[in-house]
Amino acid sequence: MKDESNNRKPGPNDPCWCGSGKKYKKCHHGNEAGVPQPAPRKDPLLLNTAERDAMRKACRVNAELMDYIRDYVKAGITTREIDTLIHQWTTSRGHIPATLGYRGFPASLCTSPNQVVCHGVPGDYRLKDGDIINLDLTTIVEGWHGDQSETLFVGPVSDEAVALTQCSFDCMWAAIDVIKPYSRVIEIGRAISAIAKARGFSVVKEYQGHGIGRVFHQKPHIPHFPDAYHGQQILEPGMCFTIEPMINAGTWKTVLDRRDNWTVYTADGRLSAQFEHTILMTETGPEVLTVTKRGPQRGHKFISPVAAA
Ligand code: MF3
Ligand code: CO
Ligand code: CO
Repeated sequence: MKDESNNRKPGPNDPCWCGSGKKYKKCHHGNEAGVPQPAPRKDPLLLNTAERDAMRKACRVNAELMDYIRDYVKAGITTREIDTLIHQWTTSRGHIPATLGYRGFPASLCTSPNQVVCHGVPGDYRLKDGDIINLDLTTIVEGWHGDQSETLFVGPVSDEAVALTQCSFDCMWAAIDVIKPYSRVIEIGRAISAIAKARGFSVVKEYQGHGIGRVFHQKPHIPHFPDAYHGQQILEPGMCFTIEPMINAGTWKTVLDRRDNWTVYTADGRLSAQFEHTILMTETGPEVLTVTKRGPQRGHKFISPVAAA
């Protein structure tokens, strides 16, 4: 994800940090000695008590939305109809679907069936028995973002689909359970890669977890593989971020749809599955902010629904 955290020094034409409204180059640039400086902005951001509560609330709303939509995911519904339900639920409560208009994304959630890795655009696709589909929901509540996704089964699905879905779920929870205050990000990627490798699946590299708060995507980068560079980041109490491993049945490589510039497919056309939670690192350990009341909980074992008689 592109870094939007905006912690750069002001450029010459940016507003001066002193609040004068003048350009930096016409104001304090080169003339900062003896002048009180703004506190350097912490990046990744560390949330205070009130900010943590605001994130808890946004994530609780988003989790309720996940609990609401799950039962609609049945053979015969189109992804556009799911999008309409998500948009209505969210806006009727005075909240904002974060993806709608985000860098031009045209819908209120991402719908990623089967060989779609992530960022699937809702449209005419009609769900059919045997599909798996990831719904990725992000809601802005009073300025704060809650972000989570689940992979769901549409009727009876293949053994491979069950195993892959289980793998992405177990990878996410293993990563959550391995981190403590002051852990390094690389521990997340190590935990995920070990499980995926042991089960013969692969971990997507190009799309990663991310810091989250008032901004949808910010630092830290959360790679789901052991990345020597971003992996050095320390997870401090007050940091809020997502863990969202995309696990592929075949190659980890992906291709971007050249028609919509959004939909990401597996390069080999095989299945991909993903789960996502938003997590707050506290002084005593990770707090999962997007737990649902009715969805799969830590330790869940997925089974294929049986065929209707
Ligand atoms: N919710 C996705 C994530 O987990 C991001 C979707 S951005 C969109 O980070 F523009 F594709 F919608
Ligand atoms: Co995310
Ligand atoms: Co998401």
